[in-house]
Amino acid sequence: MHLLLVLTFVLEVQSRIMNLNFTSDCTCHIELKSTNCTSSNYTQLPMYLPPFTEQLDLSFNLLSAIEPQAFQATRRLRILLLNNNAISKLANGAFSLLEGLLRLDLSRNRISTLSEGFSLGLGSLRELSLAENRLTVLDSSCFVHLDFLQRLNLSHNTIKTIKMRAFGSMSTLRQIQLDWNNITILKNGIFSMLRNLEVLNLRHNQINCLDVGVLSPLTSLAVLDLTNNNLSSIQFKTFLSLNTYSTHIMLQGNPWKCDCDLQRVFRKLSNVKRLFLDDYDNLTCLNLDEIHGYYTMGLDTELCVAEMVTVLVITITVVITVVAAIVMAEKKRKKKNKEKHWTEVSEYSCGSQD
Ligand SMILES: *[C@@H]1O[C@H](CO)[C@@H](O)[C@H](O)[C@H]1NC(C)=O
Ligand SMILES: *[C@@H]1O[C@H](CO)[C@@H](O)[C@H](O)[C@H]1NC(C)=O
Repeated sequence: MHLLLVLTFVLEVQSRIMNLNFTSDCTCHIELKSTNCTSSNYTQLPMYLPPFTEQLDLSFNLLSAIEPQAFQATRRLRILLLNNNAISKLANGAFSLLEGLLRLDLSRNRISTLSEGFSLGLGSLRELSLAENRLTVLDSSCFVHLDFLQRLNLSHNTIKTIKMRAFGSMSTLRQIQLDWNNITILKNGIFSMLRNLEVLNLRHNQINCLDVGVLSPLTSLAVLDLTNNNLSSIQFKTFLSLNTYSTHIMLQGNPWKCDCDLQRVFRKLSNVKRLFLDDYDNLTCLNLDEIHGYYTMGLDTELCVAEMVTVLVITITVVITVVAAIVMAEKKRKKKNKEKHWTEVSEYSCGSQD
């Protein structure tokens, strides 16, 4: 027993000096305050982790669940990497003791739901990645305790529904990656608290509709990426309501229904000084030019010609009708005068005959 204790002590001292293997599969670095347990086939958290650890790398293991208060031995953690495991269950309060945690990487796991308790105690967290998981719904309670989060990566999930106030408490959020999900509609109110959001990445979803007011709370938005969605039309007001200093908007890779209305919307948008349609020249239309399958919006300045022609035809028709009516009326008047004249003449001639 004593021998074992002494041995442990010696090992510990040695590792402090030489940064040797601390436990069997983890490497510790005392100056960096980091412990690296990556790629070690852990199915559970290692039994012993040095309490000085501020950076813990547990990526590429076989963890499947994180139990409540799992990290009570390492409460000083600032960075926790749990990416590339098989985590499907995050207990309520799994991270609740990590009050100084700044960065949590849970990407490439099997997380399909987030309970309210998941974010308990993560009031200092600045950066959270849940990319490449199996989330389908973002509930209004998912992120309630993340009061200081700045970057949220939700890319490559199967998110279809974002509930009202899902991002409700995240007024410090600056970037959201929501690319490669299954979002179809952006409803009013889902971004209502995100007044500091600078980057909203919605690439590769199936968005076909944006509620007119959905973007209006985003007063700091600098980049709105809607590339590769299912938009065929948009309303001018939707983007006009972006009350920002300057916003770059990406819209290519959508099946635009290029008609005069849409062209008018884009023309009006291009006159709004704070909005930049960066890829306007790359927008393609699905409805025109069946031979090539698409048509470029930027080159096509003639979408409203048909409408102009119609207006012109109607105007000309009206003018002709009016002119014709005047001419006819004039003719009728003249004819009447002539008839009168003839009557007078004939009367006169009759009279002269007499
Ligand atoms: C978000 O996660 C995806 C998928 O893992 C990754 O490719 C991307 O670089 C991340 N984005 C940011 C801004 O961290
Ligand atoms: C437009 O498309 C071209 C050719 O595919 C590409 O090189 C360019 O980067 C695109 N422009 C923008 C702003 O995405």
